[in-house]
Amino acid sequence: MKRRAKFITIEGLEGSGKSSVINFLEKLIKAKGFSVIVFREPGSTDVGEKIRQILLDKENKRLSRHTELLLYLAARTQLIEEKLKHAFKKYDFIICDRFFDSTLVYQGYALGLGAIVEKSVKMFSLGITPDLTIVLDVSARSGLKRIKNKDRIESRPIDFHNKLKKGYLALSKRYPSRIKVIDAETNLTEIYKRTEKVLRNKFKKINANSK
Ligand code: TMP
Repeated sequence: MKRRAKFITIEGLEGSGKSSVINFLEKLIKAKGFSVIVFREPGSTDVGEKIRQILLDKENKRLSRHTELLLYLAARTQLIEEKLKHAFKKYDFIICDRFFDSTLVYQGYALGLGAIVEKSVKMFSLGITPDLTIVLDVSARSGLKRIKNKDRIESRPIDFHNKLKKGYLALSKRYPSRIKVIDAETNLTEIYKRTEKVLRNKFKKINANSK
């Protein structure tokens, strides 16, 4: 597939502040004169949003680990085929709130599905890998404190969330040139400053005043 867009994904624990950073990034990229579109995972398509409801609904207590994995993968392929492929040709940048690293960490590492996740993630990302992944690093406890009404995944025991943190840090060591970890326990101004630095280091064209 021909790619014009640079693909940025934002990852992190629950309550790590992804939305604010995504907002900031979107504005920054636009201010530089580049076109950008934002997606979220799971979601951003009609089918994906329906799948998201199933996945996050606390009533679905009996959803099995494998079903959960398949639903995340299904939402992803739908997004890729319905929107991402087109967006790669049309925009300068694509920002996605979570992508396959979430599956590697949540289902692969924290839910213990390991090898099957590695294989299926590869298969159903249809050859798409982010150019840059920013992991917003917070402790499980401080992230969860920021959330009022917890969904099915957020309601899991603290051990699960501690594993997520470990999983993301391990992943960032495995792919150091793609995955950049930002300490998100500090104030927003500092987090934005670090985010901008990561962006400038990765994409030299962002350094120019305008397109
Ligand atoms: P969020 O986008 O609001 O953070 O919610 C998505 C939830 O789904 C969040 O708890 C992380 C979880 N998730 C997975 O467990 N696996 C995945 O592959 C993705 C994309 C998200």
